[in-house]
Amino acid sequence: MAYAFTLADVAYLASEAGRDAVAGAVPLLGGDRLKAVQTLRERLGERAAPVLETALLQDRTRGRVPDGWLLTADAAEQATAAPVAAHRAARLAGRDVHDVTCSVGAELHALRGVARRLLGSDLDPVRLAMARVNVPGVPLVRADALAPPSRDTVLVADPARRTASGRRTWRPADFAPPLDELAATPHDLVVSTAPGLDPALAPWAAEVELVSLDGRVREAALWSAGLATTRRRATVLSTRGAGFEVTDAEDDTCPVALSGEWIVDPDGAVVRAGLVRQYGARHGLWRLDEHLAYLSGDAPPPDVRAFRVLEHGRYTEKTLRATLRRRAVGRVEILVRGLDVDPNALRPRLKLAGSQEATVVLARLATGPEAYVCEAVWDAAAERVSATSDPI
Ligand SMILES: C[S@@+](CC[C@H](N)C(=O)[O-])C[C@H]1O[C@@H](n2cnc3c(N)ncnc32)[C@H](O)[C@@H]1O
Repeated sequence: MAYAFTLADVAYLASEAGRDAVAGAVPLLGGDRLKAVQTLRERLGERAAPVLETALLQDRTRGRVPDGWLLTADAAEQATAAPVAAHRAARLAGRDVHDVTCSVGAELHALRGVARRLLGSDLDPVRLAMARVNVPGVPLVRADALAPPSRDTVLVADPARRTASGRRTWRPADFAPPLDELAATPHDLVVSTAPGLDPALAPWAAEVELVSLDGRVREAALWSAGLATTRRRATVLSTRGAGFEVTDAEDDTCPVALSGEWIVDPDGAVVRAGLVRQYGARHGLWRLDEHLAYLSGDAPPPDVRAFRVLEHGRYTEKTLRATLRRRAVGRVEILVRGLDVDPNALRPRLKLAGSQEATVVLARLATGPEAYVCEAVWDAAAERVSATSDPI
């Protein structure tokens, strides 16, 4: 059970004595937890619990939220990842923005200095008090998102997707605050919601933007008509590379053909946004099948993990086992699309032996099930450039 912070806890944790106490708890985190509690009790009395919980949460969220932030366990879990918040903030640059579910301030932190004017609000007084410490100088008020105390602002909202009993919900009417009621406010609005949300449940959203970070789809951002710039967008963010965007306004000429030298499994944001054809067309790729998201081509796009096809043929377990044996493959990654194959159940049946690694792509094509034995290569485009460029 997570510790329930009080306003008095927040005032203490924000003080110099509180900060020192949290810093003093950090060296105890790696050791015996009961002993840590005992030591802190002797040192701090009833302050031990909030101090220890804060040290633990700060440790758990290192790199995700700025160092030294005050958080509750739920707020830590719900905080928007910094690159995702920064991307949204950039789209709102120069606007007057009101974050109506600001929690402990992750989005406000990204919007500060980017928005023309900025206001934060939330119903939870403890989270607001923490936000006051985390993002000093940003005006904050306690208010219901359904009656926002601002005019002519763009509303940013990130409703909680758990019911009062803590269960995850997919019904927008059960979000806190409820999605439909939020959309009824007379403001331009961007709502961050779960990537799996059916856009048909939010008919007011003029643009649906799927956002991924380092290969994991993080959210579907719903943009109201006054803010939308396209109908569907995939935004692929990366802490390693440049990232990219694809929209439904782009050319989608992407025929179906036999596999080339490479297979590309597009980022989940591109797939979920229904923009595989546009992404393929942009990079001169073609589709392996009308109904599958796999693309193929003679050269993969930059900044992706792609699969060089070593050999392929009609999939049966027996032929795949023989091929992997011949290639001395001892470790295999198995990707499956359109076939009822469980990679974890299949792997032991392949009786792998050898020193080589391979990626096996299994796909149901119009012609039947096909197996591609591949070598996975990260950023083959860069590899090609460095291999063909003259030495300096
Ligand atoms: C998912 S969290 C927001 C997280 C935030 N975007 C961040 O990155 O830290 C949802 C927040 O909505 C707040 N909330 C729920 N119902 C609300 C309402 N009707 N009005 C204002 N805030 C509400 C909760 O207290 C919670 O802090």
